[in-house]
Amino acid sequence: MPNKILVIGACGQIGTELTMKLRSLYGNDNVIGADIREGNKELMQSGPFEILDAMDREKVSQVCESQKVDEVYLMAAMLSATGEKFPDKAWKLNMDSLFIVLDLAKEGKIKKVFWPSSIAVFGPTTPKEQTPQHTIMEPTTVYGISKQTGERWCEYYHRKYGVDVRSIRYPGLISWKTLPGGGTTDYAVEIFHKAIKEGTYSCFLSKDTALPMMYMEDAIRATVDIMKAPAENIKERSSYNLSGMSFTPQEMARFIEKHLPDFEITYEPDSRQQIADSWPSSIDDRQARADWNWSAAYDLEKTVAEMLQHLS
Ligand SMILES: NC(=O)c1ccc[n+]([C@@H]2O[C@H](COP(=O)([O-])OP(=O)(O)OC[C@H]3O[C@@H](n4cnc5c(N)ncnc54)[C@H](O)[C@@H]3O)[C@@H](O)[C@H]2O)c1
Repeated sequence: MPNKILVIGACGQIGTELTMKLRSLYGNDNVIGADIREGNKELMQSGPFEILDAMDREKVSQVCESQKVDEVYLMAAMLSATGEKFPDKAWKLNMDSLFIVLDLAKEGKIKKVFWPSSIAVFGPTTPKEQTPQHTIMEPTTVYGISKQTGERWCEYYHRKYGVDVRSIRYPGLISWKTLPGGGTTDYAVEIFHKAIKEGTYSCFLSKDTALPMMYMEDAIRATVDIMKAPAENIKERSSYNLSGMSFTPQEMARFIEKHLPDFEITYEPDSRQQIADSWPSSIDDRQARADWNWSAAYDLEKTVAEMLQHLS
């Protein structure tokens, strides 16, 4: 069991739920949330919190040393759609923050690192269906390039310096507690808010764009499980493919209509369509299943029911 955990980017879509889960598992006082901004009330009031810039090497190091942190979850990043608007900022944040945390582990100041990768590491030349763990990776977004590069560096720090870094290629994540932060799969969360409030949704992807997705509860469980697994089970030190479900906007809308018969969806693809078209539509996650017993619990039907129940 870790002594102290630091979650950087704790106020984001994943960070908020991850921090709360870790606090429930390891004790509120042992999980420090950190972000460049404040988060929701529950997160801010349930345990320690630091305003921290993930690119500030000295401050990150000082927080880890003074609080005797031994595990860091680095969730701060600029996501795919926003990254295309600010490519240099995305590259800087996504790479600088990773090096700071990997170096702390290399210097023995922390023991374990979790760093998320993404299906954005894949590109138009990657096999689209059941994308294998090891395959062609030619990402076309700055976000995808930063994640692929990050994966190579994680693997390098493990092999060269023995750094215990663990990573998952998250698919698009669906959650009701926190809104998504500027990705290409954000429609799969926005659709519920609009369906409940307005009864209609204009989707920024075409109706038949199939993408790999996952319910947040599954993603959090995967994150906790990969970090708890014995080090020798983690055979992939770049990042693991992880699969939950795959569906198109039209398929999701049909499931929503079962609960809200008057719901109407229209399609107005924007620049995010091009990003979505370059990504896989389904993922082969056999290696995660074999190495650390991964298996998803939520399919589309169950996810839609949960989302509507919590948001209504
Ligand atoms: N949400 C998804 O669907 C998804 C899919 C694949 C991968 N991921 C990865 O998971 C991680 C978390 O994603 P998310 O969806 O929670 O993102 P998000 O945008 O919702 O949250 C990121 C958080 O990082 C914080 N942050 C930004 N710059 C910072 C800085 N300089 N210092 C400290 N904090 C800073 C933001 O304030 C925000 O709270 C990212 O690495 C992302 O690439 C997410």
